[in-house]
Amino acid sequence: MGIRETSDGSVTFFSEKYGQTYHSVHGARTESERVFIELGLDYAVGRFGRADILEVGFGTGLNAWLTRQKAEEGDYPVRYTGLEAYPLAPDEYRLLPPELLPLHRLSWEEWHTISPVFSVIKKQIRLEDLPCEPQFNLVYFDAFSPDAQPELWSAEMFMKVGNMLCAEGVLTTYCSKSSVQRNLRSAGFTVEKHPGPPHKREVIRAIKK
Ligand SMILES: C[S@@+](CC[C@H](N)C(=O)[O-])C[C@H]1O[C@@H](n2cnc3c(N)ncnc32)[C@H](O)[C@@H]1O
Repeated sequence: MGIRETSDGSVTFFSEKYGQTYHSVHGARTESERVFIELGLDYAVGRFGRADILEVGFGTGLNAWLTRQKAEEGDYPVRYTGLEAYPLAPDEYRLLPPELLPLHRLSWEEWHTISPVFSVIKKQIRLEDLPCEPQFNLVYFDAFSPDAQPELWSAEMFMKVGNMLCAEGVLTTYCSKSSVQRNLRSAGFTVEKHPGPPHKREVIRAIKK
């Protein structure tokens, strides 16, 4: 595991286990802002007035930190559930920018009220093992790619995630592979393609029918 600088100056990690970086090397922050904040959070808050988020792959905490910033700027409530099967160890996360460290120091498996609008729980569990509780209106689907983790991008897994979303709930992801689009459709989502961040032609927003 090693920390890497990306093209916009923000950092990511490289996972030896999966042979992949946690974010786009063309800009970690730029990618998160486009895929999860603009296409996911802004849309869900416009639709529902609040966001109840499930993140698949808490990783460095970058998505969570950006979400908190936006919630506080916009003054709307966000409840954030970050799933992480393999949390970064302290000697890894201490290499991250200082603003991300408080999220990593939070205890797992309990809710934390970080500000009047932002609460977070980190759960150390695989998506496959997560009990299905319908409670979310937005999913940040940020697993490693289908080449590395095909089991997480299957129609069955999207069905499971869909069952945890309310009607017209939203899932966003950076991966626009045609097999992923097909699996989302067969799990009952309407798939929208949107322009991606630099070096990524399209990314996906899927709406639960
Ligand atoms: C692409 S990275 C996520 C980056 C993260 N969202 C961020 O902002 O830094 C994928 C993450 O999914 C985690 N992961 C891998 N398999 C998982 C599984 N079966 N269930 C939940 N998380 C998993 C990895 O450990 C890794 O942290």
